[in-house]
Amino acid sequence: MDTVTTIAAVREHVRAWRRQGLRVAFVPTMGNLHAGHVSLIEAARQHGERFVASIFVNPMQFGPNEDFAHYPRTPLQDAGMLAAAGCNLMFSPEASEIYPHGAERATRVEVPGLSRILEGEFRPGHFEGVSTVVTQLFHIVDPDVAVFGLKDFQQLTVIRRMVADLCMPVEIIGAPTVRDADGLAMSSRNQYLTTAERALAPTIHATLLIAAQRLAAGDAEIASIERAGVQALEAAGFRPDYFAVRDAATLSPPLPGVRELVVLTAARLGKARLIDNVQVTRP
Ligand code: PAF
Repeated sequence: MDTVTTIAAVREHVRAWRRQGLRVAFVPTMGNLHAGHVSLIEAARQHGERFVASIFVNPMQFGPNEDFAHYPRTPLQDAGMLAAAGCNLMFSPEASEIYPHGAERATRVEVPGLSRILEGEFRPGHFEGVSTVVTQLFHIVDPDVAVFGLKDFQQLTVIRRMVADLCMPVEIIGAPTVRDADGLAMSSRNQYLTTAERALAPTIHATLLIAAQRLAAGDAEIASIERAGVQALEAAGFRPDYFAVRDAATLSPPLPGVRELVVLTAARLGKARLIDNVQVTRP
């Protein structure tokens, strides 16, 4: 695996692969890799012949009171994991390479509507930061296919919409969420949990599954299902931001005929803010 930090070096590698007619798959990350990220690389391997991963903790997608400064950074460990997973090129730029005029002055990409609901309501500007950096990374890497985790379901939805709206020639793949044995979705932010909080954290997935089971059984009382989710999380000691049943394609509240649904939640536990979701097909 080669490791590069400049846009020019990424382009040089990718152009050489293109001249050989090789299909390029890309996994954007913020580093601090865990088994969930490795599964993204494995998904990428099914769709390409050369693999690029970026490691960039994107300042634009963090709010002023969020964890940008403390976000775990483990570049050496990340490089080892990527190389072992079969990655060919690791791109880990400095912020000045991506935002030469500073993140505040950079040109921005915004997917309206979708970016303002759910996570967007609680993290204003977050998805603008994500769609902007993903656009830049796509222009830099020029991949045929890019892989994103389904754990960040709304992020994947925003990116799919952006790629369609802006006619970006990139195939977007959603890779399944990787969970610990007790159901907790893997996330770099799980490190913020104390031992006692870590023991409670799987309640998030369990609560989502209860909601999904009600929907799968034909229960159409969406408001009641959402209320029960919030109450269960609160009773377990979480501070939920939202617990929502949505149309899996649009993230709108589901119309009666819509069968493909997703239940999404974000909840705070101690210093951590955890998000998760489950998809469900109703009868
Ligand atoms: O999912 C993430 O890690 C980030 O939001 C992404 C897609 C790498 C953009 O910074």
